[in-house]
Amino acid sequence: MSFTGEKTQEVPELFGITKEENMWHYHVERKATEMKDLFALHGKVAVITGGTGVLGSELSRGLAQAGAKVVVLGRDEGRRAAVVTDIQQAGGEAVGIACDVLNQESLLAAKAEVLERFGTVDILVNGAGGNRKDATTSPDLSFFDLPQEALDYVVRLNFMGTLLPTQVFGQVFAEKKEGVILNVSSMSSYQPMTNVIGYSAAKAAINNLTMWLAVHFCKHYSPNIRVNAIAPGFFLTEQNRFLLTEEKTGELTQRGRTILEHTPMGRFGEPSDLVGTVIWLVSDASKFVTGVVVPVDGGFMAFSGV
Ligand SMILES: NC(=O)c1ccc[n+]([C@@H]2O[C@H](COP(=O)([O-])OP(=O)(O)OC[C@H]3O[C@@H](n4cnc5c(N)ncnc54)[C@H](OP(=O)(O)O)[C@@H]3O)[C@@H](O)[C@H]2O)c1
Repeated sequence: MSFTGEKTQEVPELFGITKEENMWHYHVERKATEMKDLFALHGKVAVITGGTGVLGSELSRGLAQAGAKVVVLGRDEGRRAAVVTDIQQAGGEAVGIACDVLNQESLLAAKAEVLERFGTVDILVNGAGGNRKDATTSPDLSFFDLPQEALDYVVRLNFMGTLLPTQVFGQVFAEKKEGVILNVSSMSSYQPMTNVIGYSAAKAAINNLTMWLAVHFCKHYSPNIRVNAIAPGFFLTEQNRFLLTEEKTGELTQRGRTILEHTPMGRFGEPSDLVGTVIWLVSDASKFVTGVVVPVDGGFMAFSGV
């Protein structure tokens, strides 16, 4: 076994462990520290839209645990405060700022507040998004009766609600020639899910946008600006509860059961299942990765159903 370059004189014999065994522990520990550093976000400022949501709040906590100063953006003051308090009580640094991702003025005001407070932005997570019941076909609502306002809102929230924050915060990355953007797509982006027409189309557009932005930022600003996305599988949250569970009994709907049958891991995701992939994608651990959409889905996408 060779330890080329190791400082062997700093590794004495200890407590009956031979010098060679001790050198091996030293080597492994040093490599483990280097490996942890690869994923660390110490000193980075991470802005997360939808930081007040079920998935976004868990991602906010995860970013803080990895060392980032987290800016939780959302419209709901109570939920913003709850996430910030959680992070602070765990010893992390976080601030909540009111922001509507569909309103450029609101985004610019949020950016000004972030820059005043932290001086820069390093990471943008575009977590705001979701579906609406009145934009979803059902036995009570046919495709032909879907209200234009509802469809328009869902498409705008998921698509423009990702593009507009990227314009506003991405400008900081373009100026300093460094930064990371992470979008949130969905399983319905690859093959559209029944019923959720506007949501599926908008999430497909997120995959396209992710690739477009990755190339654009690299070619026009810096190869040190990366843009990727995650495509979560099925997580039981407020936006899909009405589709996956019966309102009165809480039992799984036929759709909920079908999803589980098509998920080889046989369960819905837990929000914490997303954290490791997100930290990988926003840290130096993925520094040669840009323009990809990573499924985090318990195998849903890989399974043909047969
Ligand atoms: N749950 C799933 O199974 C699943 C699967 C795949 C993808 N996703 C995606 O994951 C993301 C988070 O979903 P979730 O399940 O955690 O949903 P959620 O709990 O409903 O959270 C949605 C978030 O979006 C924010 N938001 C909505 N409209 C906004 C607006 N106009 N301006 C600013 N923020 C706005 C909400 O914040 P405020 O209300 O405080 O503004 C909230 O933080 C979404 O993009 C969703 O499409 C979810």
